[in-house]
Amino acid sequence: MIENPSSKEVISLVNVNKTYFMGENQVHALQNVSFSIKEGELVSIMGPSGSGKSTCMNMIGCLDRPTSGQVFIDGKGTFEMTEKDLSVLRNRTVGFVFQQYHLLATMNVLENVMLPLRYKGIPRSERKILALEVLEKVGLTDRISHYPHELSGGQKQRVSIARALVTKPKIILADEPTGALDSSTGKAVLQLFNEINKEGTTIVIVTHDPGIGASTKRCIRILDGKVADDKINSSFEANEVHHV
Ligand SMILES: Nc1ncnc2c1ncn2[C@@H]1O[C@H](COP(=O)(O)OP(=O)(O)OP(=O)(O)O)[C@@H](O)[C@H]1O
Ligand SMILES: [Mg+2]
Repeated sequence: MIENPSSKEVISLVNVNKTYFMGENQVHALQNVSFSIKEGELVSIMGPSGSGKSTCMNMIGCLDRPTSGQVFIDGKGTFEMTEKDLSVLRNRTVGFVFQQYHLLATMNVLENVMLPLRYKGIPRSERKILALEVLEKVGLTDRISHYPHELSGGQKQRVSIARALVTKPKIILADEPTGALDSSTGKAVLQLFNEINKEGTTIVIVTHDPGIGASTKRCIRILDGKVADDKINSSFEANEVHHV
């Protein structure tokens, strides 16, 4: 196992290229993408449709492999890992949140949140305690017996955040988490991410929305598969000056 020398970096992409081969055509979805994210950061990856955001998230979440380049997650080089190693790393380290929630319609809120713990082999009684704990954190204690179709969009997204959190991952990856929500519900979900981040979880939010890009301290902008810029938002710099 190759260890990344800087262990505080929980995500590191080094010259990552991803090419999709479609018959005779090639799509260069990511081109020489390099950046590192440290433990405890809250970062947005922003870009227009087709710019490569989801491809980038698939690299970070070890859902797919780069065509070339290296991905380090939690200090571990993933390029030489087997599929099994990758899925173990993913299950231990990453929680996913998606625009369309991906909740199981036949399970109620509590069961949906308990499910990832079942895959980890945690006993049922303990699963329930842990799930109730995170459901309280996302403010859904009074909805645990509801089924997904009985919830609002914002509530569904809170369930999916609880499900991502329940395994206590180091990293939460969220792909357009507010894309299906009205703006005030979206703001509440972002606020929840902020609270979770303050407790130490590294969070990466993929978005096409410049408003969300501006609401996170750091924003990595992707254009045509390349990092166009990677900067600290000026409002956060100003805040930091006040704190010094
Ligand atoms: N499985 C695939 N096979 C072939 N081409 C793909 C595949 N997935 C993505 N692409 C192409 O790669 C490019 C980047 O796609 P990606 O899904 O990463 O964009 P995105 O920034 O997430 O867009 P959106 O905001 O619309 O979700 C696009 O041109 C897309 O058509
Ligand atoms: Mg996408």
